[in-house]
Amino acid sequence: MRVLVVGGGGREHALCWKLARSPMLTKLWCAPGNPGTAACAENVPIDTLDIAGLVEFARANAVDLVLPGGEPPLVAGIADAMAEAGIACCGPTAAAAQLEGSKTFTKEVCDAAGIPTAAWRRFTDARAARDHVRLQGAPIVIKADGLAAGKGVVVAASVAEAEAAIGDFMEAGALGPSGRTLVIEEMMTGPEISLFALCDGVNAVFLGTAQDHKRVGDGDTGPNTGGMGAYSPPPMFSAAMEASAMDVFIRPTLAEMNRRGTPFRGILYAGLMLTPTGPKLVEYNVRFGDPECQVLMLRLKSDLLGALVAACDGELAAFDLRWDDAAAVGVVMAARGYPGAHVRDTAIDLADAETMAGATIFHAGTALRDGGLVNSGGRVLTICAQAEDFSAARAQAYAAVDRINWPEGFCRRDIGWRALS
Ligand code: AMP
Ligand code: GLY
Repeated sequence: MRVLVVGGGGREHALCWKLARSPMLTKLWCAPGNPGTAACAENVPIDTLDIAGLVEFARANAVDLVLPGGEPPLVAGIADAMAEAGIACCGPTAAAAQLEGSKTFTKEVCDAAGIPTAAWRRFTDARAARDHVRLQGAPIVIKADGLAAGKGVVVAASVAEAEAAIGDFMEAGALGPSGRTLVIEEMMTGPEISLFALCDGVNAVFLGTAQDHKRVGDGDTGPNTGGMGAYSPPPMFSAAMEASAMDVFIRPTLAEMNRRGTPFRGILYAGLMLTPTGPKLVEYNVRFGDPECQVLMLRLKSDLLGALVAACDGELAAFDLRWDDAAAVGVVMAARGYPGAHVRDTAIDLADAETMAGATIFHAGTALRDGGLVNSGGRVLTICAQAEDFSAARAQAYAAVDRINWPEGFCRRDIGWRALS
């Protein structure tokens, strides 16, 4: 099969790395890819949002299957455009991608399907939103309805903080159109995990769990990031909880999406909070997490491509995926300054780390300049390792980190701490 992966981050490198091992694969492209994907796929310089360009490339190169890595092309309708061109695409239509693109949409689906989630209300008027916050009191959670690249949620400890967020989002236009509508919801407490399911529109197959580390600093301190590291499987989420979550969250969501005439195909990512009264949905995403994908690909024993084809063909009913029970840990290395303004074009030397047995390095914001590797983005590498237990996997990952010569890079030193404490 001829496959095109869309994206250029660590998640897409991990997907290419795994797909390259498939006995069904004959040719793999990645658009636009990065220096890491170049080792297992052919990079093509097409932007992830150039849907017409991607369709044209797929048609001209007889691509059999397209796998979009991130949500921007999905929300922009890449699956619809590929379907029109008769090319299989393992991702939701723009209508179904609203599960990530709009928080009110997801909340309405949850209410209709009886899915446990925080109590919520929708606001399009700042004054009404402020009145609601004053009535409810703090803590309270203020969310922009639309996509906001991780900047659209404020967990407000005080009414003043909540009112400031309402002002920023709705009146100052800090997030553009994404912030014109707000969801204000009850604050939940508990550890968070990411649960993934592969869906064919009707059926779903469990695609693993992982825990992300969203804050930039050790001990979960400092500003939010795209994710500073992940590990899988999170020990606080048992196999029984996995099975139950498929029945409580994923299957009712697929049924409701069908009822609405917008069946969901692709990867459904449930962000769950393990509250004192049981797991509740924080949010849906319509793709793999990054860096969760990197550790999941290390643990997946089954052929990923076979599973994606079954999802596109509506044949997941009797499908099962095999997992390696061993623990996987992934440490993100970021550029100094991230998640704020960060350094660029700083030299990275991977020679010592790449030859280390037991570590796998996925590229994200890297580029080649005059033949040398430099950073081009904020999140730059994910260094992954797998071992019989978390402490061994973590030691192996950090041993590889310590052999990377990149003075301008940094990482958290405590990835996986919840699994070890
Ligand atoms: P989201 O973009 O919806 O995933 O929200 C980003 C982060 O905000 C989540 O990962 C949570 O840590 C936090 N968060 C979102 N909603 C709530 C809530 N209702 N209660 C507590 N924390 C929340
Ligand atoms: N790691 C969180 C995300 O991909 O959204």
